[in-house]
Amino acid sequence: MGNDAPRRLLIINASPHRAASTTLLATNAFVAGMQAGGAYACETVHLCALKITPCTGCLSCWGRTEGECVIRDDDIPALKQKILDADVILCSFPLYYFGMPGQMKVALDRLLSLVYAYHGQNAPTDGSPAHEFRYPMSGKRLLLISGCAYNETDVVYDPISREFDLICGKGNYTALFCPQFKTMADHGGARLARILARFTAAGEEFARTGTLTPETVRAVTRPPFSPETYRTILENVWAKEREKSTRDRKDSTHV
Ligand SMILES: Cc1cc2nc3c(=O)[nH]c(=O)nc-3n(C[C@H](O)[C@H](O)[C@H](O)COP(=O)(O)O)c2cc1C
Repeated sequence: MGNDAPRRLLIINASPHRAASTTLLATNAFVAGMQAGGAYACETVHLCALKITPCTGCLSCWGRTEGECVIRDDDIPALKQKILDADVILCSFPLYYFGMPGQMKVALDRLLSLVYAYHGQNAPTDGSPAHEFRYPMSGKRLLLISGCAYNETDVVYDPISREFDLICGKGNYTALFCPQFKTMADHGGARLARILARFTAAGEEFARTGTLTPETVRAVTRPPFSPETYRTILENVWAKEREKSTRDRKDSTHV
């Protein structure tokens, strides 16, 4: 492929809301910036629209059928090929129970053949990946963009960060963990456009430099609301939900 060929960007959206995912608003704004800063051929895969059979735990992909999963009649073989072909993989997902959504974990387990078998080594403490990759990964970039409800992201994203540090190696991926994000998307008013513009600028920076400065990451992932304002918004949201629930119950008693 010549130098002018567009780089292949694979966007894997793991939100069950598919195209209506609020995290995807940030992702799409970031991708618009990437496209302004460089030539990318983009493809979005909505994980929840795929047929993905859970891993059966047979470990054949590390033994009998080394490098290949024995389940071949679902969408994982095609997804694996897209991952191998991509120059940039962008995983867009909401935080669920301080981890990744189930659909994403099910897909990840099925991709165990991306790494070589475990041979009794100790877990790395120097930030290197726990398993060697079976495929060349040096030119690839991995981005994580994730929205959550919490006010801050350093504690609640620890499990995800640890997991990706062990899989990819610390510093081998770029993460944008976004606090208060769904509420900001639903109730942020003019804030939403301002914050999405920051994502677009960050995407452009990423396309130009292949990375993001710590200042850019901080600017993009700053909480949009003060804790007090955020608490008030959430109290109103849950009060409205309780009202709806009371109304529904009243309606059902009149059926
Ligand atoms: C099952 C479930 C678990 C969740 N767990 C967390 C959590 O641990 N921490 C958090 O901050 N938000 C949590 N949330 C809120 C989601 O992260 C939030 O709604 C997300 O921004 C929605 O993104 P989406 O519109 O892209 O799907 C959870 C939501 C659901 C449905």
